[in-house]
Amino acid sequence: MIGKLNHVAIAVPDVEQASTLYKTALGANVSKAVDQPEHGVRVVFVNLDNSKVELLEPLGENSPIKSFLDKNPGGGMHHICYEVEDIIKARDQLVETGARVLGDGHPKTGAHGKPVLFLHPKDFCGTLVELEQS
Ligand code: CO
Repeated sequence: MIGKLNHVAIAVPDVEQASTLYKTALGANVSKAVDQPEHGVRVVFVNLDNSKVELLEPLGENSPIKSFLDKNPGGGMHHICYEVEDIIKARDQLVETGARVLGDGHPKTGAHGKPVLFLHPKDFCGTLVELEQS
């Protein structure tokens, strides 16, 4: 069921600062910061040959990463995103194994305009997992 690694998301208090670090220390190809108000984040995409890293800064009061940053003020790995071919099929299969889907259980449109779901971190080795339909 699981396909490619789509991205790893890192929550940071200051996305410009994180972007500069990735650019200067790692020589990474980074995008300009993009506001995604519908997702409550400001994002910089770090483009790698085989995948990408998303640096996320909270945007607005109801940002879904705000509480994570309150607990991890210096930043930290927030979630990992895997591609699946059919998100409904993947969800149903996962629910059958006992995995918990966050929210109302229905896919939402993610940061890349594709359907996404999040799985409870306690069911996946302490890591928040995002599934994105490829
Ligand atoms: Co993501």
